[in-house]
Amino acid sequence: MEQRFADTDAPFGHEHGPLLTGTFAPVADELVLEQLPVEGAIPRDLNGVYLRNGPNQQFEPRGTHHYFDGEGMIHSGVFRNGRFCYRNKYVRTEGWKNNDAAGAELYWGVMNSVKDSTDRPMNDAANTDVIGHGGKAVVSWYLAGVPYIIDPITLDTIKAAPEYVSGPGKGMSAHSKVDEHTGELLFFDYFTEKPHMSYGVVSADGRLVHHVPIELPGDRLMHDMGITENYSILHDVPVYHDEEALKAGRHKIRFDSSLPIRFGVIPRFGASDSIRWFEFSSCFLYHVVNCWEEGDEVVMIACRYMPAKKADGSIDEERTARMIAMLEMDARLWRYRMNIKTGETSEECLNADHNVEFPTYNSADTGRYTQWAYLVDHDPRMLRWTGIRKMNTDTGESVGEWSDGHDDCWYSEPWFAPTDNPASEDHGYVVSFCWNDRTEVQELQVFDALDISKGPVARIKLPRRVPPGFHACWMKASQIDNWTAANE
Ligand SMILES: [Fe+2]
Repeated sequence: MEQRFADTDAPFGHEHGPLLTGTFAPVADELVLEQLPVEGAIPRDLNGVYLRNGPNQQFEPRGTHHYFDGEGMIHSGVFRNGRFCYRNKYVRTEGWKNNDAAGAELYWGVMNSVKDSTDRPMNDAANTDVIGHGGKAVVSWYLAGVPYIIDPITLDTIKAAPEYVSGPGKGMSAHSKVDEHTGELLFFDYFTEKPHMSYGVVSADGRLVHHVPIELPGDRLMHDMGITENYSILHDVPVYHDEEALKAGRHKIRFDSSLPIRFGVIPRFGASDSIRWFEFSSCFLYHVVNCWEEGDEVVMIACRYMPAKKADGSIDEERTARMIAMLEMDARLWRYRMNIKTGETSEECLNADHNVEFPTYNSADTGRYTQWAYLVDHDPRMLRWTGIRKMNTDTGESVGEWSDGHDDCWYSEPWFAPTDNPASEDHGYVVSFCWNDRTEVQELQVFDALDISKGPVARIKLPRRVPPGFHACWMKASQIDNWTAANE
């Protein structure tokens, strides 16, 4: 049985622009849905939860809306012995509570304000990322805010965790990394005032055990980081606030192609001055796939953002900045090598053919070698991910792909979900939401990670659209505190 969604397509009217209407329209309800129709069969050896974060505008926005502005909402799918349960719930941030009490949007968005504004406050919305840590899930915001701890099954907000962060800015950016071998969570913070960045480690039991300032040449708008077994890799990108706009309280970004992109390799518990910087060709970089060590080399596999070019082949800085601001991706799978003994570097495009982003992998080996990456095919339009793809991080080869139709489909960030007893790195499943514009059918699709080209082994039909969002994660049953107690 296929069910069509009946949400209003523009809950606040069309005057707020296309990012609150149609497929992008926020959803109004928090639901728990079980016994949903399934095409195929839900694997019984898939046990855990897929969590996906994204903005969901709750009240009429103040001023111009940008899709980055809405309040954090988690959409989840719990898989248990062949059964499935969908949930969605807002993260109960301080901003959400204030808005809820007022019954109106109290905050300004990124088009109208800047993070530190006092007269036009922004909402620390926890709407960007989610990652399993210490038996719970940690949600975070791309502009770096207070992390929130949520229950990965019920999606209830357990608490804000200001104790995880410290120092200037007192924030945690999206894209903290969890080393599943040690349970540690590694994160960065960034801010307009000096020293512009900090780096920290939270222990498996939730204590801030390391936090150091990182001095950058100026205000920078980096987005991600990487870790290896012994190091963390911090980013200094040639993207920063336009100074005049910042003074005027407006968020406008500049891409400066005269600057290199730099990656700073710091021992996991290193002091500020132990960081070693490596320079590469100028570009922005949204997302890291994974990093590891090979002898004296630190290897970082990433999706390199390809700067826009003018007709004469030179870099178009203004257009590149606009594309970055609107999440219009043009990215290629890329390998960076940094020799921590000799200082030598190298970089290479692993596959020029596919514009791929929102990369994932088997997170059991975050910081260790992983051969396989799972990514979305990126239509240049914002958040328009039309298919999923499996790629070899050694060769760059695309070894499998699937789409129900590139003209119709919106996939979410696909995560690798191991089978209960994996025999290889890619022994398991890949899980992704898929909204089809043409048929107006929402599914959560489950693929065999060994061969995603076969198409979904299970299509779970949801009677509601899941709007596009940002980052996701997979937490396996053994990583979830209340897995046994939660009786689905
Ligand atoms: Fe991101």
